[in-house]
Amino acid sequence: MIREIVVYPDKRLKLISKEVESFNGALHDLLDDMYETMCAKKGVGLAAIQVGVDLRALIINVPLEDKEGENDQPKENTLEMINPVIIEKDGSEKFQEGCLSIPGFYEDIERAKHVKVEYYDRNGKKHIIEDDDFLAIAMQHEIDHLDGKVFIEKLSYIKRKKFEKEWKKRLKER
Ligand code: CO
Repeated sequence: MIREIVVYPDKRLKLISKEVESFNGALHDLLDDMYETMCAKKGVGLAAIQVGVDLRALIINVPLEDKEGENDQPKENTLEMINPVIIEKDGSEKFQEGCLSIPGFYEDIERAKHVKVEYYDRNGKKHIIEDDDFLAIAMQHEIDHLDGKVFIEKLSYIKRKKFEKEWKKRLKER
């Protein structure tokens, strides 16, 4: 089922999401719905709070090289991360980011280049993953959502002011 996306400046985006304790059917339904919603909106990542659920769960669709440019990445290729924690990070890199909760806005954001993340899958099995490319950026962006942060908070003061002004105008036009 496609769920409704929470759009900035909805206050729910500021919530600190809670640890998942039960790796049950309700969690699996949530993850399946998040996948459908992400595909429908052509996103590459989605945190549970973006569909209004304050649980520490996120999904990332890592583009496969041979499928690049195609809209629907296979579900097997979707990374599901429950209770993720960044256990190592270093370096820095600028990457253009966007967010389904702030549709149509893109900006270069600086983050760590390399991260190592510990997380659980939907069945409660623990994994460790590391990356220094697109996935590293996506994991940091999505984990920020679990802590009530959106990427525009990383903009400079001037860029943020400009964004807020344009965004207000856009919301009025809707
Ligand atoms: Co986002």
